[in-house]
Amino acid sequence: MKKIKIGLLGLGTVGTGVYKLIRMRSDVMERTIGAQLEIKKILVHNKNKKREGVDESLLTDNWKDILEDEEIQIVIEVIGGIEPAKTMILEALKAGKNVVSANKDLIAEEGRELLDTAQEYGKDFLFEAAVAGGIPIIRPLKQCLAGNEITDVLGIVNGTTNYILTKMFEEGMEFEDALRQAQKLGYAEADPTADVEGLDAGRKVAIMASIAFHSRVVFSDVYTEGITKITAADIAYAKEFDSVIKLLGVARNTESGIEVGVYPVMLPKDHPLASVRESFNAVFIHGDAVDDAMFYGRGAGEMPTASAVVGDVIDVARDLAYDCTGRISCTCYRQIPVKDFGE
Ligand code: NDP
Ligand code: HSE
Repeated sequence: MKKIKIGLLGLGTVGTGVYKLIRMRSDVMERTIGAQLEIKKILVHNKNKKREGVDESLLTDNWKDILEDEEIQIVIEVIGGIEPAKTMILEALKAGKNVVSANKDLIAEEGRELLDTAQEYGKDFLFEAAVAGGIPIIRPLKQCLAGNEITDVLGIVNGTTNYILTKMFEEGMEFEDALRQAQKLGYAEADPTADVEGLDAGRKVAIMASIAFHSRVVFSDVYTEGITKITAADIAYAKEFDSVIKLLGVARNTESGIEVGVYPVMLPKDHPLASVRESFNAVFIHGDAVDDAMFYGRGAGEMPTASAVVGDVIDVARDLAYDCTGRISCTCYRQIPVKDFGE
């Protein structure tokens, strides 16, 4: 049986999920893609950390061990942050490897350069897990809904803040305690400021707007306001009006330009987004042909995120089987002005 060898960069929450899922599904993959997926090496920061259930002989703290291994055809980047992740992805693509990443920080800032490099070298660069964890949203926007003029993409796209708001509303939990639980469950970013200040959601909005509107929207274009200023009094007020507070990400393509923002809103309890609880996310899309479509599921955490990453890996493996990598990474852009939020 043919083996497709993988270099995994990062073995934290998501990396561990990817490691487990690839091993759990190996027989299904053999049947569906006609090849076995094998994680050949794993890059970590600290090789001495105790890691239960992991074959320690695969661990390395030297990136060149993966970059220079010619057998490795797919690199999965789940380290996070801008550097060294950006350099590693660019070097991997230039060395002829395909890349799968969950790194919204990087894609929201430097996605264009990464996609251009993937296209130039005829390699896949896929990032389904970067937005809304386990929910398929990048591929639907890019492929399934490509026949539409999309005007609206909005929803709950941060699991940590949705978890905190749910716990504050339903159990009267303090903000800090709910955040600690979200961190323990693996939902939060390495620096949870990105979650609670709306930055993580802002990055996801920039990525979705770029794809939905065939444009280039970067994180700095997005107006962001988080949930740190929400008080017990705000919660009591919302309850009085039979409503909940949710952190919404909004991207609209209007006649005067693109509008992108993240901010807390009060929603009546019978609104479809009001019932999205805990780490679940939901994304609502309006297109001229499809009308309204909504996507719902777990937006963060080990296995839901691994589900999206491994889906991308299987797509790359299929492209490798048909010798057509680079096909799904290419994107065309048009110039649409991004206006100030609320202008
Ligand atoms: P973690 O902090 O849990 O894991 C990061 C991993 O990267 C660790 O294994 C760490 O090594 C390794 N690492 C960090 N810096 C380096 C370095 N310089 N060289 C080599 N290895 C390094 O992060 P997550 O798994 O939570 O997130 C990973 C990515 O996935 C991020 O981009 C995040 O935004 C994204 N993501 C996360 C989701 C989630 O629910 N957690 C959901 C969707 C996307 P060591 O173990 O030795 O410390
Ligand atoms: N920290 C992110 C969240 C992880 O809570 O949604 C998923 O992108």
